[in-house]
Parts: sequence; C-alpha cells; structure tokens
Amino acid sequence: MHIVHAQAPAKINLALRVGGARPDGFHPLQTVFCALDLWDEIAVEAADDLSLTITGIELEVDEDNLALRAARALQRHTGTGRGARIAIHKGIPVAGGLAGGSADAAGTLVALNALWDLNLPPSELHALAADLGSDVPFLLMGGLALGTSRGEDLEPITPGAFQSWVLVLDDEGLSTPAVFRRYDELHPEPHDPAPVEELINALGSQALGDLAGLFVNDLAEPAFTLRPDLAERFNRLDDTGIATVLSGSGPTIGVLCESVESADALAGQLSKEGLRAVRADGPVAGAHIVRSS
Ligand code: C5P
Repeated sequence: MHIVHAQAPAKINLALRVGGARPDGFHPLQTVFCALDLWDEIAVEAADDLSLTITGIELEVDEDNLALRAARALQRHTGTGRGARIAIHKGIPVAGGLAGGSADAAGTLVALNALWDLNLPPSELHALAADLGSDVPFLLMGGLALGTSRGEDLEPITPGAFQSWVLVLDDEGLSTPAVFRRYDELHPEPHDPAPVEELINALGSQALGDLAGLFVNDLAEPAFTLRPDLAERFNRLDDTGIATVLSGSGPTIGVLCESVESADALAGQLSKEGLRAVRADGPVAGAHIVRSS
C-alpha cells in the first residue's frame, strides 16, 4: 500500500502586533513567524473515504479537526473522488500558541497533494491554507516570515543566526478567540498594528544579542489578565536568556538562548523547578514530504 509521510513544524511569533478588529471580526496583524523543529508527523494512504487517527497525545477527533477540513477542502477544490486514511502523530503541544492544529492542516495538504497526484502549485495550496486558518499558510512556508493582514499574507525574511529556544508549556490551553476578545476590551479604539521593521532588520544579524528587547506580543496583556499565573511565570523567565516572548495567544512562553548549550542547561534547570520546559530550534522548513513508501 502506498503511504506518503509528511511532517510539519511548530511556530513561534517573535513579534505579534495587533490592530483594531476588522468588520469580519479578524484583527490586522504585523507578525514575525519563526518555524521551530517540533514536528507533527502526517501519514496518508489511499482509502474509499476520509478518516483520521491521532496518536502521541490524547485528543478527540471531531469533524471540525483542521486536518480533516484540509482534506475536504482539497477534495472540493479539485473535484477528486478519492479518500484517504490520515494518521497524525503529534509532536507539537496542543492549544499552546504553537499552531499545532494549523501544522496538521498544512502537512495534510502537502501529503494529499502527493498521494492523490494533484500537482497543485504552492500558490493554490497557499490559497486553500488561508481559507483554513490564519497560521496555516506560514506552516506551509516555514522559515522566517513577516505575516500581515490576518497573518496569511507572507513575506519571507532571510534568516540570520540559528536560534535555540526553551519553550515553557502549560497544561491548560488558552482560547485564541477569548484572548482576542479581551484585547478588544482593553483597546476598543480603532488602530493599526505597530510596525515590526526594527526586528526584521535585526533578524538579518549573525549576533543574536541584537534581538534583545525587540520581541513583543500585544496579546500578552490580555492573556495575562485571563491567566495572572502566566504573568508570574513570564517574570520568572524574563532575563533567563536573550529575550522572552509569549507565543501567539499563549500559554506557551519562549526564551531565546545564547547557544544550544545554554538552552539545554536552562531547560534542565526549569524542569527541575517543575516547569514543562522543552527545547526547540529554528528556523526550519515548512510542511514537507519526508518519504513515500
Ligand atoms: O484564523 P484562525 O481560525 O486560526 O483564527 C482563530 C480565531 O482567532 C479567530 O476566530 C479569531 O477569533 C481570532 N483571530 C483574530 N485575528 C487574527 C487571527 C485570529 O481575531 N488575525
């Protein structure tokens, strides 16, 4: 039986500047994405219908699952009558601001494009991805990128130094719509997202220290008002590396470290303190096929 294996990375937002809500409810963003080497593995094989199983984490699969929605979007777009058994092994923590669900959608698009011999070009996959969610196009693209509009308009940024991160996870997810709603309550006046040029320029540097002070997330304030314990954790992690940032709508907090060694040491120390610290490096490639068997 022919099986296509793909993998898709996690992301962290190095900057996330938010504007006032648009008429469609989405918020205009200026965001800098970085793809990190925590991978969800997506295997697809031909079948009459569509089905999905998930391992590596306890997660109930429902019809709204983004990977199933991605498969259906591809069927609709191309008119193919083919089905697939989709098996996802999760390496990306769920509901953490790391875009694990979006990674599954991106990986499924890439894997089924190959399994079903559709040969859709990247531009068409990008359009399907944008319909599925604001982060999905970046998970297709990977690397480092500026995201504007609701995050789906992407411009690649040439990477400078390789980045070693410690990610501090949380057991309890934070709802992205709830964090954006709280942002609107805190900032009801119309406004554009702040620019991120300074960070983009600094990202070209080989000296990671040039990034100090340039990571910023406008969703941190609303996330911390919903979860005051996260603000305490952020304060504990601030100054443990070059820069500390909440990823997306949280609750994951990332610490950029000087080197692989210092990141390994910090992760070890935080784990001893009882925090769920994991290591990740980036930027890495977007969703891609690993092998076909
Ligand atoms: O695009 P996605 O489905 O991932 O977005 C999830 C939710 O996050 C949206 O329903 C919306 O509430 C919020 N969101 C937003 N503005 C964005 C991206 C997401 O308000 N630019």
